[in-house]
Amino acid sequence: MLNIKDVHKSFMVGSSKYEVLKGVKLDVKSGEFVAVMGPSGSGKTTLLNCISCYIPVDSGEILLKGTDLSKLDGNQIAKVRNKELGFVFQDFMLLDGLTVRDNIMLPRIISNNVSKAMEASADKLCELFGISHIKNKYPAEISGGEKQRTAVARALINEPLMIMADEPTGNLDSKSSKAVIEAFLNAKSSLGATILMVTHDSFAASYCDRVILLKDGQIDTIKIREEKSRSDFQKELLDAIQKMGEENDDEKL
Ligand SMILES: Nc1ncnc2c1ncn2[C@@H]1O[C@H](COP(=O)(O)OP(=O)(O)OP(=O)(O)O)[C@@H](O)[C@H]1O
Ligand SMILES: [Mg+2]
Repeated sequence: MLNIKDVHKSFMVGSSKYEVLKGVKLDVKSGEFVAVMGPSGSGKTTLLNCISCYIPVDSGEILLKGTDLSKLDGNQIAKVRNKELGFVFQDFMLLDGLTVRDNIMLPRIISNNVSKAMEASADKLCELFGISHIKNKYPAEISGGEKQRTAVARALINEPLMIMADEPTGNLDSKSSKAVIEAFLNAKSSLGATILMVTHDSFAASYCDRVILLKDGQIDTIKIREEKSRSDFQKELLDAIQKMGEENDDEKL
């Protein structure tokens, strides 16, 4: 589904070049739920922005279902972003003046592509994520977890190839976080969704099939859940994160 091959990305800071991604390689399979974890500044958001074509890579390839995204022109990139990718952000990014249902349909409203069938799929997504009872409410009238489940439904309305989420549970308490992770798991099992999620939250990551630990712009460790229980997998993640931190401290000595 997604193949990232040796991606390098640097930013100019003043007159010096600062390399953020230093040869990232990653494959995400269709229907996989993958988390990216790592210290602040390790390049997680930069990686998501490169995949979403918000920023160009310096070198390397990013293939989405075989299409090299760096070879696309502006129009084609806009199409990929609207149709092939769904986005969920830390701060929900819902429009205050629209109801939950209209927020979910927003990608279609923007492209002037509202139909009865699409209204029915918005209603289905509301059902799937347990937000049917609030679909006529406005964002100011619902909880953080409900807002984020609305955002997950919106990310799915165009049946994208992949959902990209940057710290989707970052602003939520543990109960709401769990509801959002359940929404992702539902999207995966009921709709076959492929999800790439950046998170600092080992609890959220422990529900994923695979967790990528990024450190200094490179993949440090990959942890696979397999048949492990969620809590055992979370322990394994916490150990790996701690170990990564200790290595960091050693380097500083
Ligand atoms: N547009 C930019 N110009 C210059 N430097 C940037 C730019 N965007 C990001 N950086 C730098 O690149 C590094 C990686 O940033 P990035 O946002 O990818 O980190 P992150 O892993 O998402 O961190 P966090 O967990 O805090 O969100 C940081 O040191 C950041 O300051
Ligand atoms: Mg970030």
